[in-house]
Amino acid sequence: MKRLLSLRAVLVTGKGGVGKTTVAASIAKYAAAQGKRVLCAEMVGGGENARAEVTSALAQALGRKDLDDQPVDIAPNLRAVALSPALGHQKFLRDVLPMRLLADAAMRSGAIRRFLSAAPTFPEMGVLYRMLELVRQTRRDGSFEHDLLVVDLPATGHALALAQIPASLLRVIPTGPIATAVREGLALLQDPTCTGSVVVTLPETLPISEAIELCTGIEQHKIPLATVFVNRVPYDPFSDEEREAVRTMLDGKPPTLGERTMERIDRSRVALARISAAVRAPIVALQDVFLEGSKLTDEVALLMDSAGPA
Ligand SMILES: Nc1ncnc2c1ncn2[C@@H]1O[C@H](COP(=O)(O)OP(=O)(O)OP(=O)(O)O)[C@@H](O)[C@H]1O
Ligand SMILES: [Mg+2]
Repeated sequence: MKRLLSLRAVLVTGKGGVGKTTVAASIAKYAAAQGKRVLCAEMVGGGENARAEVTSALAQALGRKDLDDQPVDIAPNLRAVALSPALGHQKFLRDVLPMRLLADAAMRSGAIRRFLSAAPTFPEMGVLYRMLELVRQTRRDGSFEHDLLVVDLPATGHALALAQIPASLLRVIPTGPIATAVREGLALLQDPTCTGSVVVTLPETLPISEAIELCTGIEQHKIPLATVFVNRVPYDPFSDEEREAVRTMLDGKPPTLGERTMERIDRSRVALARISAAVRAPIVALQDVFLEGSKLTDEVALLMDSAGPA
């Protein structure tokens, strides 16, 4: 876990429903507790209401009702923001169009906004621009406004989508201010001392296979893989001997609830062993916790703190 603290940006990815938002919010709380100034960001769609507040899963995981496209204070050292493509597009237009006034007028035009949201890779580019802006933001004394940006990505493939835009865009626009910004974005994304992606998965057969595939994809795109979190690992109270004893006791008996739990524990052990063997990055197991919302992420942040050096 300590290694994550040295990064400037952590991108949390994984399949739907595995716990990306929970893990992102928990990493943010963990890092804030370690004294880092943290900004936790959720990617949201573009569309018409660029500045409208959004009800978000991340807000709930942090104990708030909603987020805004400007950072809001959550707790000491901890802020959260909705990462919409719109602000990135605005900055992008300001970089390409000759005058700020013109860029702002262009952003007010529904047609241009719709175009920017619809063109493939443009939403991602808006997000990348905005991410860069947030990562670079400095305070008056010259230090970074936020030491660490934790991004809750919406679904598998988005970390990859972010990595793909720079290359495809550079082919179309090889020079100029956009190309420069895009190159910087790419350099940031691919620098293991700056950026780390985090893959979240569940301790079951299929999710583990998918996570291994995702890790391979991430490495192929040269995005550094920092940590794999195997989330919702069932509580396992047994030593190997105790487990055998319980197995013998249950053998030949009619099916019981405990047997199901034992099977889940067994599958989880196999799953952890499988992903540990397949992936080079550190694997951190996070327990299934019977809490929700902000209490859940408080608890998971504590689990991360005790997870050791991974
Ligand atoms: N370690 C955990 N213990 C108990 N419940 C958990 C844990 N991690 C996540 N959950 C629960 O699982 C559900 C899904 O988690 P979460 O919203 O973080 O997943 P997600 O990957 O962000 O989903 P989506 O793909 O929809 O964005 C939530 O109800 C959350 O409270
Ligand atoms: Mg989520």
